[in-house]
Amino acid sequence: METPWPLTSADVDDVMTIGGLSVADLANEHGTPLWVVDESDLRDRCKRYRTAFPDVDVAYASKAWCVTGLLQIAAEEGLWIDVASGGELQTAVNAGVSMDRVVFHGNNKSEDELRMAADLRVGRIAVDGFAELDRLERIGIDLGHTFAVWLRITPGIDAHTHEYVRTGHDDSKFGFTLSLGFADEAMEYSLDLPHVDVVGAHAHIGSQIFGTDPFIANAEVMVGLLAHWRARFDVTLTELNLGGGMGIRYTHEDHPVAVARYGEAVLAAVQRACDEYKFPMPRLAVEPGRAIVAPSTVTLYRVGVVKRLPGLRTYVSVDGGMSDNIRPALYGAEHEVRLAGRASTAALEPFTIVGKHCESGDLIRERVSLPGDLVPGDLLAVAATGAYTESMASNYNRLPRPAAVLVKAGEVRPLIRRETYADVVARDIPLA
Ligand code: LLP
Repeated sequence: METPWPLTSADVDDVMTIGGLSVADLANEHGTPLWVVDESDLRDRCKRYRTAFPDVDVAYASKAWCVTGLLQIAAEEGLWIDVASGGELQTAVNAGVSMDRVVFHGNNKSEDELRMAADLRVGRIAVDGFAELDRLERIGIDLGHTFAVWLRITPGIDAHTHEYVRTGHDDSKFGFTLSLGFADEAMEYSLDLPHVDVVGAHAHIGSQIFGTDPFIANAEVMVGLLAHWRARFDVTLTELNLGGGMGIRYTHEDHPVAVARYGEAVLAAVQRACDEYKFPMPRLAVEPGRAIVAPSTVTLYRVGVVKRLPGLRTYVSVDGGMSDNIRPALYGAEHEVRLAGRASTAALEPFTIVGKHCESGDLIRERVSLPGDLVPGDLLAVAATGAYTESMASNYNRLPRPAAVLVKAGEVRPLIRRETYADVVARDIPLA
């Protein structure tokens, strides 16, 4: 069974290795906290997605981790890039991504962002609302550009995941709500906009979803909608993007569906629905973020303090925290944690791993079993931190943000340099 650790992780002489490199050496050389990305793992997941979804455009949802080097790898592996802001789009430009393989998302894209997308000839815009349709038409007239768009639909599917990462249910800020008739209204409205060419539909129902049922339901609803539009408006759209959201294993308690099964289930569901409605098979797209990048990466932290509270618990403070991984504090997320820099035969004890920020919610993992002889100076590795950690990082308490390195077959390539105190104050404007 797949573990929460990256593909090439191993133990050599009692020290964890990734890409053939000792994490103790990596920590000594590059400092901590440190994101270590296993390049083989990352490329393997890109390939597995492409194999599981043959003839489907797989877009990497770059919000999961948007860094130039990672987008270069995703593009090299044949993935499209999904961006959700001008900054993410600029990163795709920086990575030399072919703009016709970029999809632009967002529930409130600004005029400037849409102009940037037009200037760059971004491949697809996932339109989120009526105000955006008007904005696109205006910009299109101004620049003499016609946008190829997908209408983002809120399909009324509740994916039963964390409230903050559900997007398919009706009460959502995203998309045209199907049950309220907004999807039809948007389609009809677009037909009168010469600079907005609706070529398909999009629906993303949420994130960290474990079963295949919500994805199957999404596929059925969306093909049904395309068939309905054909009947009602006499338009046969040729593209359908079913979003991302496939869950991954953060700890041994998580049991996600293998990508191959997920692909089979979704493709079969689309085919069935197309047969049922006698609708021509659209060109499909999916846009995984977490499942591409999260499992490739571990965060290395150095233990600074072990505080034993008899009868209560033992706190272990590390040198990062909620500024480099907000997920435990924000979603109650759990990541596997291990002692990484040495072996220990000590009996396991429960420890609560916390960060160094000035608040009690600054948690890495509550009550995790680790060897009882944990001491300051030890290295801890936290699993599956490639998604929504660096991308949601902050400078809270003015901590410089960590570095990230890519490792493969004994070689290290830097992805992000560590921030300095000079960086931390760089945007401050001292009063004259
Ligand atoms: N497509 C759209 C339109 C999205 O909004 C998202 C994620 C994705 C694709 C990719 O979903 P994924 O495959 O990564 O699940 N910060 C949260 C997750 C937020 C997801 C936002 N949208 C977390 O750390 O769990």
